[in-house]
Amino acid sequence: MNESGTHAENVRLSAAKITAALAGARPKIAIILGSGLGGLARQVQNPVTLAYRDLPGFPELTVVGHAGQLICGSLNGVPVIVLNGRKHFYETSDAYPLKTMIRAVQAAGVETLFLSNAAGSLRPHIKVSELMLITDHINFMGLNPLVGPNDDAFGPRFFSMTDAWDPGLRTKLQTVAQQAGVTLHQGVYVAFRGPSFETPAEIRAVQGWGGDAVGMSSVPDCLIARHCGLKVAGVSCITNMGAGLSDEKLTHSHTLENAGKGAGAFEKLVLAAVKVL
Ligand code: HPA
Repeated sequence: MNESGTHAENVRLSAAKITAALAGARPKIAIILGSGLGGLARQVQNPVTLAYRDLPGFPELTVVGHAGQLICGSLNGVPVIVLNGRKHFYETSDAYPLKTMIRAVQAAGVETLFLSNAAGSLRPHIKVSELMLITDHINFMGLNPLVGPNDDAFGPRFFSMTDAWDPGLRTKLQTVAQQAGVTLHQGVYVAFRGPSFETPAEIRAVQGWGGDAVGMSSVPDCLIARHCGLKVAGVSCITNMGAGLSDEKLTHSHTLENAGKGAGAFEKLVLAAVKVL
């Protein structure tokens, strides 16, 4: 399928709606909220909310805990766009909705994409309810959202993923976390496609590869964002230990509940971070 047809048109139409909702504000940051982290959406000041279903080409969401709303407003006085919910690759292999979402916020003027997710820890020192700054990733989804014809209007066919998780933004986030008294580990995020949780053998394997947390998102977002030249930062909220590393049962409701426990620290970090990113 040629991206320059309907997809490019959807990006343009959605960007126009977002620009209208911004009413002259010029946010540099868009924040994608992960599972159980939707509470930040309620902190947006002077919100103007657009439902994804009213934004051409945006994802239609099916997973509990993902609202499907784009919110224009400000956090801590700084203009932002908050994307509450996204489609995962365990729901579809169709990358177009995610591409539309990310490329549309870029077309509306955003320069940095801040990603967040719920994740399982692979390391005993990274505990449930704590946060991990993503320094790099391993794409074990068996899928890259940029497979297919490349549209040079959005980005190049081949592009570097070295320093994809922006080193300058990471330094700023670590400083901010320290000042705000938020524990912020750092490490490598390994993305599985899901929807099943991993087996204990898979967890042991990716520990050996140098992974520090596992999840089912954010890597496609990072790839799409880097392709079109957006800067990327990201934080995992640890909701559980990886399969086999503790006795707890892994369920989605458990993930949401534990993400809620880490949400306070996440919100504190983001509210401080938007001032400096
Ligand atoms: N594995 C994959 N995805 C996840 C996990 C996990 O352990 N926890 C939260 N999302």
